[in-house]
Amino acid sequence: MFKTNIFGLEYLKEKAKFCTRCPLHKSRTNSVFDRGNPEAQIMILGESPGFNEDIEGKPFVGKAGKLLDEILKEINISQDKTYITNIVKCRPPDNRQPEEIEITTCYNHFLSQQIKIIQPKIIITLGNIATQIFLGKEKKITEIRGNIFQFKDFLIIPTFHPAYILRNPHKRNIILNDFKKIKLTYETYL
Ligand code: URA
Repeated sequence: MFKTNIFGLEYLKEKAKFCTRCPLHKSRTNSVFDRGNPEAQIMILGESPGFNEDIEGKPFVGKAGKLLDEILKEINISQDKTYITNIVKCRPPDNRQPEEIEITTCYNHFLSQQIKIIQPKIIITLGNIATQIFLGKEKKITEIRGNIFQFKDFLIIPTFHPAYILRNPHKRNIILNDFKKIKLTYETYL
């Protein structure tokens, strides 16, 4: 028995391909919807696609994605245990941060529906922007990473964005320990 409405998810993905609701569609090569297992209980949420993601049409396939995959492998979380996506589905020009209106539009039309369909037990939010859409703007990633928050039907566990770790490699152990905690939470409580 599958929990996920695959038809609903495919419909949403198709809608994202042709979406023109915000200005980001003008510069995209591909919309970037998801990768991983829609049946997974762990959703990993990034911010927005970068150069490689825009070309390939899949999230986290560039350097930050390689680091993310490396970390998951290191702690033995197999690819089929995760479902990976971003808040906004189109790459912002020059990799700038997505704007408030872009975040809200994409959340309302895509991410909120995706969450309803996937029904994750845990959402790992990578970095400030992904964390703040659930926990509010006053929450800073440096202060709350590694903590567990109940939000509606799922847990939010924020950690650093892998792109931040690429710029600050001495902090790699922190993200690794957060992921170990996430694994323990998943195995113990879910
Ligand atoms: N950074 C993100 O937040 N998402 C991606 O898909 C790639 C880099």
